[in-house]
Formats: sequence, C-alpha cells, structure tokens
Amino acid sequence: MKATHARNRFAPERVAPAAARIAARFHGRWQQGYVHGKLRHDPAFAAISTLLFDAGAALPVLDLGCGMGLLGQWLREHGHRGGYLGIDQDARKIAAGDAAARGAWPDIELRQGGLATLPPFCGHVVLLDVLHYLDREAQRRLLQQSAQRLAGNGLLLIRSVLRDASWRYRVTLAEERLLALAGWMHTATRHIPTRTELESELEDTGLSVTTRPLWGRTPFNSWLLVARRASAARDQRS
Ligand SMILES: C[S@@+](CC[C@H](N)C(=O)[O-])C[C@H]1O[C@@H](n2cnc3c(N)ncnc32)[C@H](O)[C@@H]1O
Repeated sequence: MKATHARNRFAPERVAPAAARIAARFHGRWQQGYVHGKLRHDPAFAAISTLLFDAGAALPVLDLGCGMGLLGQWLREHGHRGGYLGIDQDARKIAAGDAAARGAWPDIELRQGGLATLPPFCGHVVLLDVLHYLDREAQRRLLQQSAQRLAGNGLLLIRSVLRDASWRYRVTLAEERLLALAGWMHTATRHIPTRTELESELEDTGLSVTTRPLWGRTPFNSWLLVARRASAARDQRS
C-alpha cells in the first residue's frame, strides 16, 4: 500500500466517526467516554496504523498488553483485514474489549494471559505503553521473543515512556502513580528504560531501530521505537 493512501486513512474527518463507532460498542458512559477520548486524542493509534499499513497491511498483528483491544478495532475500522491477536493479563479489560468487538468484528481475538511466554506467531508485533510494567529482565526476554515473531517485513512497534532528565518524564511518573491509586492499573511500574538501553536491547536481537517522540499534545514522555529486521531495513533504504 502506498504511504499516501495509508496516511489518508487517518485524516481527522475519518478518525472522528471511527472513534465514535468504536466507543459506542462499549458498555456505560465511563468506558465510552474513555475510549472516545483515547482514540481521538492519543497520536499513537494513527502513527502505529500508518506504519503497519505502509509495511504490510495484510500481515497479522500481535498486540501485547492490549488492554481492551482498542488497536484491533481501530485497525479493522481503517481497513486492516489480517489477523489480530491481543493479549493482556487484566481479565476485566479483556472481557470489556471482547464484548465490544464481538458484534462488529468477531475475528478480533483477545486472550487473557501474561507476556512471559508468547504464542507462536508471525507478523507485526505492537507493545503500546506496556513495557515499563515489566522488570528489566522480563523486558529483555519479551523483546527477544517479539523479535522472533516478526515476519520478514514485519515491524516491532513500541511506544514507551523513557527515563531521562526531562519535565515530561517527571509528569509521566506522577500520572502512573495516580493511575495505580485509582485502581485502573492492576500492576505497578517496575522498570522504565532509557533510550540507549532500549535501543541496544533491540539491536542485540538483530533489529534495526529508529526512535522518535510520540507525545502529541500530551505532557507525557512517550516515545515510539520502530524496529525491523536489519535486512528489511537495508532493503527499504536501497
Ligand atoms: C497502559 S495499558 C495500555 C493498554 C493498551 N496497549 C492501549 O494502549 O490501549 C497497559 C496494559 O498492559 C497490561 N499489562 C501490564 N503488565 C502485563 C503483563 N505482565 N502481562 C500482560 N499484560 C500486562 C495491563 O493490564 C494494561 O492493560
């Protein structure tokens, strides 16, 4: 798919109705408001989808720490028809996401489980705001397993908070504490990697990485790491 086509899919006039349709499938005003706000204002969904569509729209997507599987519905609404498997340890979020997706997109698969051992898979892998809930060793193992599940032209897309000296980093830490206190996150922050650390963990698995900010209009220290097999990165450049 041409890059321009992929970007047109995420023009604001298409995003708003898609966000409203997805939100309306959730139960109750609180969940609907949360989903609608997240899909309208978090730049990760358009950025990740654009990259996935550009790299290979037909490839399946493995979404690790998928929460309510919003990315799965978002991709479907914008034309992705490859498989989608989301895994999350939180049974409440999986049940809510499953109930919401069932009527419209019954082929979206959401599975409750941890990330210590990943199922067999070949395609794109996404880690959206989940890495910091694992300790450093678990992160390293997860990155290795994720890299092994990439198709030849598959992407490993990671949005993560990065540890640095910025005010954004301090704001992100405060937000994480609030989320934990509110009971929305059933797990605490364990290890926030630095940019250098995360990039070298990925390079050690044989991937080539580019990193850029992905905080949009939020005050958070969110970064997007785009990793692919070094051979695929060479092909893309030539
Ligand atoms: C901030 S939420 C992000 C959810 C989703 N990726 C999104 O952006 O909408 C982080 C998710 O990671 C999940 N999570 C944290 N640690 C996990 C683990 N060890 N195994 C599976 N899921 C985990 C949490 O349950 C939560 O749903």
